[in-house]
Amino acid sequence: MSVPCVRVPREDGEATRERLADDDLVDEAYEITVEEGSLFIPVTDPDAVPTEYAIVHRGVPSRETQTMPADLLGFDPSYERLGEIVILDEDDPERAQAIAEAVMTADLPVKTVLSRASKVKGEQRVREWDVLAGDGTETVHREHGCEFAVDLADVYFSPRLATERHRVVEQVSEGEHAFDMFAGVGPFVIPFAKRGATAVGVDVNPDAIEYLRENARRNGVEDPVTAIESDVREVAPEYAGWADRIVMNLPHSADEFLDTAVELAGDDTVIHYYDITHEDDLYGPGEQAVREAAGEEYAVDVKTRRTVRSYAPHEYNVVLDVRLRR
Ligand SMILES: C[S@@+](CC[C@H](N)C(=O)[O-])C[C@H]1O[C@@H](n2cnc3c(N)ncnc32)[C@H](O)[C@@H]1O
Repeated sequence: MSVPCVRVPREDGEATRERLADDDLVDEAYEITVEEGSLFIPVTDPDAVPTEYAIVHRGVPSRETQTMPADLLGFDPSYERLGEIVILDEDDPERAQAIAEAVMTADLPVKTVLSRASKVKGEQRVREWDVLAGDGTETVHREHGCEFAVDLADVYFSPRLATERHRVVEQVSEGEHAFDMFAGVGPFVIPFAKRGATAVGVDVNPDAIEYLRENARRNGVEDPVTAIESDVREVAPEYAGWADRIVMNLPHSADEFLDTAVELAGDDTVIHYYDITHEDDLYGPGEQAVREAAGEEYAVDVKTRRTVRSYAPHEYNVVLDVRLRR
């Protein structure tokens, strides 16, 4: 069926769609279509459309299914979702911009499209971002039945670790004492508490601790969760011998904190130790570092050796689940 549409260059598509939508002019009964660099936005009243826009009449499909970015682009882009934020993994800036606009135009509940502008850096492991479309870096992410409010401009958070976190969470039992030495906004601490653990999360980043407290409230686990803004080395004496389970997700420098982990460990404790290692020896360096820190005091038993993800050419993010028995 022939329908009046505004025709704009594809790069102006999202701005035009927003402007027309503000005036209630977008005809939701029909699909937005793309052809040869132009986007065709169906409109309800062509006479009310600002005169700067070209109106054409063309056959467009009725809107029966959701329009996805791939429908607009002609290829399937790769991206991650974090709540209402989409994170692109795209080196070519022009292609990234086209994907960002398609993501915003598609029927997805997205408010911002971001691209990584730096590596995670500094003590707080926060990254810089380029905002490609929309605005705002704060969102609420849902993962395995928990909600996490997070602002990517202020705190570390990676949706890619969801499967790994879930693997660890499933080991937690009711009543245990769980201590996350580098807790961030609480993606370990919150589900631990939901499984009945008493959980302590420490972080040097004040924003992370603020979100961790908010996330404890959101998920109904304020009572079993204690959030502490501090360098974990300063908090450890207060919790000496307390922990049944310890999470150390600070790859690159977790080995510097193994003495602190041993100070926190009780008579029988599992440590989840994350590391970045070379493919030639994925687990050796971490295993040796844990054994040295445990010394004569503990029997050390490596329960799991696992590669979490590829990190860089020839380098991997790995985890060891290590049981220490006094
Ligand atoms: C890689 S992030 C992990 C956050 C969280 N566990 C997660 O998986 O999303 C490491 C966190 O450790 C915190 N951190 C770094 N050094 C610390 C220290 N000495 N004491 C406590 N927290 C620290 C950073 O601020 C950052 O939030």
